[in-house]
Amino acid sequence: MVKSVAREDLTEPIGSTLQGHGLVVADGALGRALVQLLLERAPALTLTITGRATHPRLETQLLLQQAPDRLTYSTLDLCSDEQLAGLRDHLVHTDGPLKLVFNASGWLHGPDGHQNPEKRLAALRRSNLQHSFAINGWGPILLAQAVEPVLRQAGRAWFASLSARVGSIGDNHLGGWYSYRAAKAAQNQLLRTVALEWRRTLPRVCVACLHPGTTDTPLSKPFQRGVPQGKLFTPAFSAACLLQVLLGLKPEDSGCFWAWDGHPIPW
Ligand SMILES: NC(=O)c1ccc[n+]([C@@H]2O[C@H](COP(=O)([O-])OP(=O)(O)OC[C@H]3O[C@@H](n4cnc5c(N)ncnc54)[C@H](OP(=O)(O)O)[C@@H]3O)[C@@H](O)[C@H]2O)c1
Repeated sequence: MVKSVAREDLTEPIGSTLQGHGLVVADGALGRALVQLLLERAPALTLTITGRATHPRLETQLLLQQAPDRLTYSTLDLCSDEQLAGLRDHLVHTDGPLKLVFNASGWLHGPDGHQNPEKRLAALRRSNLQHSFAINGWGPILLAQAVEPVLRQAGRAWFASLSARVGSIGDNHLGGWYSYRAAKAAQNQLLRTVALEWRRTLPRVCVACLHPGTTDTPLSKPFQRGVPQGKLFTPAFSAACLLQVLLGLKPEDSGCFWAWDGHPIPW
């Protein structure tokens, strides 16, 4: 059963914390749920949501129709340097300081059972490692590089990226999923490193690697069978928990790895 969040939890405004502009990268299930939540709870925030398609997918179009004055769509493939530069130009021209960058992109498997995560060493493929590292490993840090000039004007701000508990080396007791685990571990190391640099150069920006919990999305769909009852979250529930954890962090918490319930995860 998917755990759902009570409606009252979603409606409490967070307007005083988030005033300015927010960027949500990737219009997958968790990215869209986060935008929905921010539209409802952060009325002083304008937003950009990105997607890989030139024209937004239907679910994203519905979000855009809800708030045509507050939400815009921008095309972004994190593997394209040109599109990352285009995103920076887009952000320079939005109103208000950039208060929130939330990377909700990620890749675990290809379509229709292709490129499934590796169960054994023999299943490892160079192409899968490269693909997973390009999105899960290098994407977030290249995003950080692209938005850094815009964050300089922001004052207090949050840069969050969805990692995964399986990216924790200390917590790896099961093995398997070589490419995904290693690429998320690389993401964590790269974001920890930029957090340390930004403590000096952008001390009011808080960087966080976040684990959403197992959530009912296309990414987890093929692997949901063994999830215990009550442990498969709706995207709305995960998004609400993650936002609560993130906004509770102070600049001195920057550069850590947090689970949806606010507990730290070992590297
Ligand atoms: N769901 C879970 O149980 C779970 C658990 C732990 C961690 N996470 C993490 O949570 C994040 C969000 O995943 P989700 O569950 O919401 O899955 P999802 O619905 O499949 O969303 C993943 C998103 O990433 C986008 N993406 C893939 N490659 C990209 C690229 N090169 N550039 C930009 N965007 C790209 C996808 O775009 P397209 O739709 O165009 O492919 C999609 O919008 C991921 O980082 C995932 O690892 C999820």
